[in-house]
Amino acid sequence: MSSEQSLVDKLKALEAEALDRVNEATEPEALEAVRVTFLGRKDGRISSILRHLGGLDPEERPRVGAEANRVKARLQEAIEGRGTTLAASDAGRDALGGEEDRTLPARPRWPGGRHPVTQVIDELWEIFRGLGFTRVRGPEAETEWYNFEALNTPLDHPAADEQDTLYLTGGHLLRSHTSPVQVRTLEAYDPPIRVLAPGMVYRRDTYDATHAPAFAQLEGLVVDEGVTFVDLKATLAEFARRYWGPGTRIRFRPSFFPFTEPSAEVDVKRVFTNEAGQEEETDWLEIMGAGMVDPAVLDAAGIDSERYTGFAFGMGPGRIGMLKYGISDIRAFFENDIRFLEQFADR
Ligand code: PHE
Repeated sequence: MSSEQSLVDKLKALEAEALDRVNEATEPEALEAVRVTFLGRKDGRISSILRHLGGLDPEERPRVGAEANRVKARLQEAIEGRGTTLAASDAGRDALGGEEDRTLPARPRWPGGRHPVTQVIDELWEIFRGLGFTRVRGPEAETEWYNFEALNTPLDHPAADEQDTLYLTGGHLLRSHTSPVQVRTLEAYDPPIRVLAPGMVYRRDTYDATHAPAFAQLEGLVVDEGVTFVDLKATLAEFARRYWGPGTRIRFRPSFFPFTEPSAEVDVKRVFTNEAGQEEETDWLEIMGAGMVDPAVLDAAGIDSERYTGFAFGMGPGRIGMLKYGISDIRAFFENDIRFLEQFADR
């Protein structure tokens, strides 16, 4: 075999090896390494072969030179092509954990929306924020002290019964209302206090059209010098008018909660002009419990009940959402039926 033939053979073998390595490269860096190894001007393997050209007969050199140029061009092209493929398949490979399937149809975009109850909480929050309230939070796993005793509720009260409350191990329970956040707030801050506490609460209820074992509550607490029942009425009336419209009326019915005295259930009646231009009004609808903070609650949290007074209220955003959207079964909020939820999409 002439030395001319052996250099051409070497170039062909090199070409095959280089093309394999180009196709094996899965990263741009690996591809660049292949390029430097084979096409590098100084130490590249093709350049090294061409260094032997001088030992050939002058007539033999052009054939080897032409072959070298062909291999270089072929390699250059293969490297560029592979580079384009790698860049294009990056996104696909990421999504598929390394495997790419270009026959897959594109996935539909499915942006989420806020849950209807979350939307109600956000609307209520906006109104109370406008009335000077600050947002606070408390834990969902509570102690008997915060959930009951500090709220003037003895542990033999029916609400503390295992029939009604979900107990955890280690002396904890799932809070049955957001009122424990009142106590935590009173411990953490000095008056004046004006806070709103949204959150989930848990009760051992049968799951039916009007009861759920887990639901949202929104707690309000105002404590300062000279706070009276008039402030409670004015705050809630203003809230109701801002939420349901200027003609909205509210009424207070005497009630009982261990942690407020006096206590009330609050009802709203919407009075509005309908599409036909006539005055229309709804029935009275119960929306929350409220009252003046019992002095025993202030004392238990270390607040001087001779100096300070306050009011508190607690409402169910889920219930308000049911009234707002005309939903008669609370379970609709929990079943995550996309056909139901999509009607409230706010995107
Ligand atoms: N915590 C009471 C409930 O869950 C509601 C309430 C809050 C009543 C604050 C009065 C004051 O029923």
